[in-house]
Amino acid sequence: MTTLANYLNTHANHPALNDVITTVTDVGKTISQLLRKGALADILGEAGNQNVQGEDQKKLDVLANDLLLDALAKNAHCAGVASEELDDATPANPDGSLLVLFDPLDGSSNIDINMAVGTIFSILPYQRQGQNSENSDFLQAGNQQLAAGYLLYGTSTVLALTITDNVVMFSLDPDTNEYVLIEENVQIDADTSEYAINASNYRYWRAPMQQYIDELIAGKTGVRGRDFNTRWVAAMVGDVHRILCRGGLFTYPFDTKDANKAGKLRLMYEANPMSLLIERAGGAATDAVNRILDIVPNDIHQRVPVVLGSRNEVAYVKDLHVKHADK
Ligand code: F6P
Ligand code: MN
Repeated sequence: MTTLANYLNTHANHPALNDVITTVTDVGKTISQLLRKGALADILGEAGNQNVQGEDQKKLDVLANDLLLDALAKNAHCAGVASEELDDATPANPDGSLLVLFDPLDGSSNIDINMAVGTIFSILPYQRQGQNSENSDFLQAGNQQLAAGYLLYGTSTVLALTITDNVVMFSLDPDTNEYVLIEENVQIDADTSEYAINASNYRYWRAPMQQYIDELIAGKTGVRGRDFNTRWVAAMVGDVHRILCRGGLFTYPFDTKDANKAGKLRLMYEANPMSLLIERAGGAATDAVNRILDIVPNDIHQRVPVVLGSRNEVAYVKDLHVKHADK
C-alpha cells in the first residue's frame, strides 16, 4: 500500500512542493468531512455574498476558501494564493518559492443536491522571493505549472495529481483518513464516443461547435458513422474525472450569452490544472484551436473556452474550427 506521503517522498524531489501539496490535500480531508455531514453541519445554502465573478457564494464555498487560505498562509513555502473566491491574490510568505491557485469548491450548485463537487489546484513557481507577491506574479502560462490536481468529493473522495510526467490517483480511506494510491499511470484512450456539454447554450455557440454537436447527435446517420453518448455532471471536476477514468470529450465552448465572457471556465485555476492532468494522461486540451497551456494570462480570473479529453476527438473539433475560419 502506498500512501500520498510515501509517494511524495519517493517521487517529488522538491520538498517545498511536497509540503504545499500536503497542506492542500489535508484541507481536502476537512472539506470532505464537512460535505459528508451535509445539512447536519449547517453548511448548505447561500452565504449572502457574491464572488468576483458575480455569482452567489454558497456557505461551503466560503468555508473551503477560508480553510485553504488559512492553511496555505501558514505554509512557509507558499508565497501567495489566488482563488476563484478572492478578487485579488493574497500574499503569503515572501520567502516562499511557490504560488498556489485554487477553485475551492468547483461545481458548487451541486452541493445542495448531494452531487459531486471538488477542489482544483495549480502550483506555479514564485520568481521574486523576498518580496510580497502580487497579482502579476501569478500571470504565468499553464506550461509553467510545477504540479496540479483536484480532489473529487464523490461517492468516495479521490485525489488526482501530477507532479512528474504522469498522472496518479489516490482514494481517501475513510477508516484511516489517509490517501492511498489506486492508479499509478492514468491514460486516456485517443478515441471516444462520449461527450459532455451544456447543450442548452446551443444557440449561443459559434457555427463550428454547432456543427460538431449536430454531427454527434446525428450519430450513425451522419458523417461520423457511429453513435455518441452524452454525460454531464455539471461540475467540471466530475466530468474531467470521468474522462481520466474512461476517456471522453468535455467542452465549455465560447458562447455569446454574455459579451464579457470568452467562455465560462477560468483559465488559471480550472482550465490550466485540468489541462496539465489531461495532457499528461495522453489527452489534449485546447480553447477549440490553441493549446490551453500556452496561453499567457492577463488576469488571474481570465475566462477561456475549453475543449479537452481524448486527443483524436479534440483534434477533430480543432479541424472543424480551423476549416471554418479559413472560409
Ligand atoms: O466552475 C464552473 C462550473 O460549475 C463547472 O464546474 C461546470 O462544468 C460548469 O460551471 C457548469 O456550468 P452550467 O451551470 O452552465 O452547466
Ligand atoms: Mn469551478
